[in-house]
Amino acid sequence: MRQESFKSLLSYDIGFFDINNPTVLATQLSSDCEKVNGLGGNIVGLITGILISMATAFTISGVYCWQLMLIIMLIFPFYIFSLILGFLAQNQGLVSYKYEDATVYASDCILNYKTVKAFGMEQKLLESYMKVTYRVSQNTRKKANWSAFSFGLGYGMLFYLYAFMYWFAARMLVDGYVDFEGMNISMFAGIAGTSSAFLSSIFAPDIKQGQIAAKNLFKILDYEPTIDPNSDSGVKQSVSGAISFDEVSFKYPTRELYSLSNVSFEIPAGSTFAIVGTTGSGKSTIIQLLLRFYDASEGSVKFDGKDIKDFNIRHLRSQIAIVGQEPVLFTGSITSNIAYGIEVSEEQVRKAAEQAQALSFILNHPDGFSREVGLRGSRLSGGEKQRIAVARAIIRRPKLLILDEATSALDTETETKLTDILGGLMQGRTTVVVAHRIKTVSTCDQIAVLWNGELLELGSFNELMEKKGFLYSLAMQR
Ligand SMILES: Nc1ncnc2c1ncn2[C@@H]1O[C@H](COP(=O)(O)OP(=O)(O)O)[C@@H](O)[C@H]1O
Ligand SMILES: [Mg+2]
Repeated sequence: MRQESFKSLLSYDIGFFDINNPTVLATQLSSDCEKVNGLGGNIVGLITGILISMATAFTISGVYCWQLMLIIMLIFPFYIFSLILGFLAQNQGLVSYKYEDATVYASDCILNYKTVKAFGMEQKLLESYMKVTYRVSQNTRKKANWSAFSFGLGYGMLFYLYAFMYWFAARMLVDGYVDFEGMNISMFAGIAGTSSAFLSSIFAPDIKQGQIAAKNLFKILDYEPTIDPNSDSGVKQSVSGAISFDEVSFKYPTRELYSLSNVSFEIPAGSTFAIVGTTGSGKSTIIQLLLRFYDASEGSVKFDGKDIKDFNIRHLRSQIAIVGQEPVLFTGSITSNIAYGIEVSEEQVRKAAEQAQALSFILNHPDGFSREVGLRGSRLSGGEKQRIAVARAIIRRPKLLILDEATSALDTETETKLTDILGGLMQGRTTVVVAHRIKTVSTCDQIAVLWNGELLELGSFNELMEKKGFLYSLAMQR
């Protein structure tokens, strides 16, 4: 069940994760699967166990003294009564049992622990978290009270029944209906069987929660991804790297406004293309459409003159490499981060690291290539992380290289060095660069200036400088 859910999650498009919080999804994967499992496997075993112990108890008891067996059977009304109460208890406290809120909150704080510490936010966050969890704890307490009451009542009744049975058995012995041995065997078989059945039913998994969990899981499993990276459909063709945007408009699934409107341009294979514009003007959105994280709302994105939707998505993405502003590293060694997702030799990893000028800092550490980078690369500096990300891009020998503000988080010296490395990498392959530095942009074959999702200017560096528009004013500011 867990595998199935995880498999579906991996096949979903980015839009799904815009709508559903990833942290909640991760929690559901672990806890909801557990609860649903409890519904299936465990409950069958439990019921079988209860039935067998009851049947054995009544048979033995009945063989030695059927009157005593009948008395023990009086347990049934109490047993059922207490089961019903228990079930009612499960329904209590579920009115707004939304642990998701608390989970999202906690994971946000923990993942951003450095910011939390730097701003001294611990106490504030703790208070807010308590507020979120308070309602949950209130409901849980109510539920616990109910369960305790129903169990206490049922179990208490059982002892009155046993007391009655002792008295009755003594009468029967005195009146000569049963001998001493038969009385004992019949009585104790009954007591052992019924009390064990009673006790095990308390450990019955929470049916109500199981139902809710199942509903949640089906919401995940039933989603129909519009872009499935695991699908085998589409042509597996190696592209030359020629790209065109044909009157592309796009809005994100969670947003009413268009993030791109009517954008058209062409990038010849092997050329470099720069995108500049203010924050939020749609630069990264263009990149996401190139990777087909989303499909254009209107218009089309084409590779080698063919619509991007006609390609096999996994095959197409394998020909693209991206270095972003925030290099994404995964917990693991440096080698595993460079070779991420592809089969390469140690020699190739070393070579890529050398080209990304990462070799010296890697070898300076005693663990070398097997050094652990920590959660999301937290044990490396910004420049080091970025070089690993560049090495990862190099090793894939991409047809299309995308640099989304790859150097903007670095200090000037590191930035200059890395820009040189990237300059070498851009030679002879289609490159799309999102950058702020006029120097980086000026060497590109074409420059597109975006403004509020619209293409404001398009042309070579010299053309745009002569036009004295946005790019010109940007260059003059420096
Ligand atoms: N996943 C998303 N969901 C909804 N809106 C988004 C998403 N990503 C970006 N946006 C919005 O789209 C616009 C363009 O964003 P983006 O392309 O990231 O800008 P930038 O040019 O700074 O890279 C912004 O207004 C941003 O708020
Ligand atoms: Mg951006």
